[in-house]
This record gives sequence, structure tokens and C-alpha cells, in this order.
Amino acid sequence: MNCCVVGLQWGDEGKGKVVDILADKADIVVRYGGGANAGHTVIIGDTKFALHLMPSGAIRPDCQCVIANGVVVDPDVLLDEIANLQQKGLTVSGRLFISRNAHIVTEYHRLEDRLAEQALGEQKLGTTARGIGPCYADKAGRSYALRMADLLNTDLLGDKLRSVLKYKNKLLAAMYGAEPLAFEPMFEKCLLWSDKLSPCIADTTEILHKALHQGKNILFEGAQGSLLDLDHGTFPFVTSSNSSALGLGPGCGFPPQKLDRILGVVKAYTTRVGAGPFPTEQDNEIGQRIRDRGKEYGTTTGRPRRCGWFDTVAAAYSVRLAGVGEIAMMHLDTLAGIEELKICTTYQIKGKQTSFFPADSDLLFQADCIYKSVPGWHEDLSKMTHFDQLPKTCRDYVALVEDLVGCPVTMLGTGPARNQIIYRTPGLRQ
Ligand code: GDP
Ligand code: IMO
Ligand code: MG
Repeated sequence: MNCCVVGLQWGDEGKGKVVDILADKADIVVRYGGGANAGHTVIIGDTKFALHLMPSGAIRPDCQCVIANGVVVDPDVLLDEIANLQQKGLTVSGRLFISRNAHIVTEYHRLEDRLAEQALGEQKLGTTARGIGPCYADKAGRSYALRMADLLNTDLLGDKLRSVLKYKNKLLAAMYGAEPLAFEPMFEKCLLWSDKLSPCIADTTEILHKALHQGKNILFEGAQGSLLDLDHGTFPFVTSSNSSALGLGPGCGFPPQKLDRILGVVKAYTTRVGAGPFPTEQDNEIGQRIRDRGKEYGTTTGRPRRCGWFDTVAAAYSVRLAGVGEIAMMHLDTLAGIEELKICTTYQIKGKQTSFFPADSDLLFQADCIYKSVPGWHEDLSKMTHFDQLPKTCRDYVALVEDLVGCPVTMLGTGPARNQIIYRTPGLRQ
């Protein structure tokens, strides 16, 4: 069974929790895109893991972890994460494989990200400042890029770094008046990365093809969300990779037709961090209530997340985009206590009604939402374990989303912990 877990909104849907649950039966968990901009939370008992680059399968000691070619790797963050896992009794040695072809995020990428955002002022994108955009830009530019494979060849690494740094220093000085970054400390760092990470650097495409041949269970962990996809999201307020499930093929060299299951993750409402259109946003008491109850603060940056109602126009688009077959709906518990809930069914843009999501920020900024109001629930869902225990209004809410999005909800989140999940048989109304 090969399964891809992907966010259907603007990220932070609860993918980490879902991947951790499914990793129980997985042999390998694969990250295929994004970088340390991701923050995936897994909570086991009293222990909280916030993973940025390590696949969430790292928490299952028998699970192999692959960081594939589509990921941009910040070795400093990765080494920190490995040390943190180690402190919690989890070793990844021998079970972590990083693609030779994955590009490296360095200090100058983070600097460029920060300076570019500063220069944009009011027009800034609100990135995570993790150097993601500049690193993917260098990847596409090809001439001044460092990859994990370069860490394996320390004889050539110095010359390569020198040439890249010369170019970057010129660029950053001309664009932003930045002070040049020194070669020596950066080279020292590269040697340290080489020393620590070389044993993990591998041809991950080959590993995945072998695993496919051997009938292993492979779980793909999407980062970010479909609406942040570089090509299909709300450009320019997106990330710099194909963060929908469409990014899986190029991101790890796995044939998408060999996927048995694409599971989309949503929250029972919507959140977004950073700038960009958000038609159902509630910049009011309701939004604040959701933020408080759902603890909606970024896992990576700590920024308060913007909160709003569930948007079926957007979710249906994400489902269609990558052929998502089922949905995990998280945070149903967070909505408890709101008298009247709203679900966006249609947009009104320039006087016309549409239920097709236009991935065009100019149009989306002008979208007015048409809502269906439904009664909420007051019960605490956090200890419920079966769908039929949920209040009727909650079950009706889920059914309405299924109808409007055109996709069955097969898992429901009732709290942050691993066991706070309710399973349903695909497509079966209970
Ligand atoms: P990811 O980036 O998609 O992995 O999501 P994040 O980890 O950034 O954010 C999701 C947050 O919601 C985390 O703090 C999770 O612990 C939490 N969470 C996940 N599922 C549920 C749920 O069903 N209910 C509640 N209350 N919290 C949840
Ligand atoms: P996970 O995997 C939520 C957002 C940023 C910003 C935009 C571009 O935890 O769901 P970037 O640093 O990628 O250039 O920022 O994308 N963003 C995320 N929002 N969750 C994420 O990851 C995100 N990764 C990037 O807030 O708006
Ligand atoms: Mg997150």
C-alpha cells in the first residue's frame, strides 16, 4: 500500500499527526518537497515533536526515513533535529536517507530571504525566512547551487563554494547593500555537514524503486498545502515548490500511478500564515476564538495563524487537482461551543457566482463568500472514539462538507494526541 498524505488548504492542516498515525504500518516515510519552512507536530503522551525536515515517520523506530530530491535541506536544522530526536531516545542512524540531488539551504539563502522580504515592505509575502525561495531559485538557475552530493566530494567542494559565494556576495551587496559573507567559516560548516551527513546521502530514487518492487509500504508526507503550490496555488502568495500531491513525481522520482491512496488533510475550518487572499477569513471574535481554542500559532515561526470558516470551494479544487480520494478532517474539537457555524459554498466574484476556485490572487482578493449556516455543537469531542458518538450536528457538518467537496471524510481529529482520531469506512455514512 503506497499512500500520499497532502494538505488541502494553506498548510498546517495536521499532516504530521496523520502521517505519524499511518506510519504505524509504513516501512518508509518520504518527504518529497519543501524544506524547513514546514513544521509538523506529533504529540505522543507528554512528548511533543516539531519536525521540519525529518519525515514524521522518524518517531517510529522501525520506520525508514527518506528526504528526497525535491526537498531543500538546511543541514543545520536537520542536524539539530537529529540531536533532538536522539535526546528523546530516537536514533536515525542507518534509517535516514537523503537524496544526493537534494539542494542545500545555506546562510546566504536565509539572508536573501530576509532582505528580499524587508525590501518589499508592505508588499512582502510573509515567508518563513528559512531561505526556501532563494534556494529553489538557485536550483532552477543551476549555475550557483550546492547539492547534498557536493558534500561527498570535499576536494571539489571548496572551489565550488568559493564560486557560489562570490556570485552571491556580489548579488546581495548590489541588491541590498549587504556585507559579504566570509568563505572560511562557511567552508568549515560544509566540512562538518559532510562529516555528519555523508553516511546518509544516497540515491533515494533507487531506494524507492527497490521498495516498490519489494512491495513495501511507502508513505509520502506532503509539506505545506495544495493552495501554496507554486503553479497551482494563490501565486505569488505561495511557497516555491509544488506542494500539492502533483509535486510527488518530480519530488522523489516515484511513479504517481503506483499510489494506492491519496489522503487529503483539512482542518474543520481554515487557517493561513503569511500574506495572501483568504476569502473565508474571520478577522474578528470568531477568528480569535478559533485561534485560542485551536492554539493556532505557527509551528515554525510562532506567528499567529489567520483563521476563518471552512471553504468548500477551495477544498474541492485541491481534491480535484491531485485526484484526492479521501479526507482526514482535523480539529473538529476546536469548533465546539460555537452556536452557528458557517461553510462557504460559493464565491461571488465581479458579480458572478462560481464554485470553481480561481488560483489567481487578484480575483480571490475580490471574492465574496456565500455561506451556508449550520448549528454547531457544545459537547467535548476529545474522548470520543466512534463516529456515532459524535453529536448529530457534528456528523451533519461532516456530511455537508463531504457533499460539497465531493470526497468522503474517512478520519476525524478530536484532539492533538495520536489516539484522538476517529476512523470511518471510506464513503460510508454512519
Ligand atoms: P502540519 O504542518 O500539517 O503537520 O500541522 P502543524 O503541526 O503545523 O499544525 C497542526 C496543529 O494542530 C498541531 O499543533 C497539532 O498538534 C494540532 N492538531 C492536529 N490534529 C488536531 C485535532 O484534531 N485537534 C486539535 N485540537 N489539535 C490538532
Ligand atoms: P507545513 O508543512 C503553513 C507559507 C508561509 C508564506 C508562504 C511562503 O507546516 O504545513 P516560504 O517560507 O515557503 O517561502 O513562505 O508559505 N508556508 C507555510 N504555511 N505551513 C507551512 O508548512 C508553510 N510553509 C510555508 O507562511 O505565507
Ligand atoms: Mg505546520
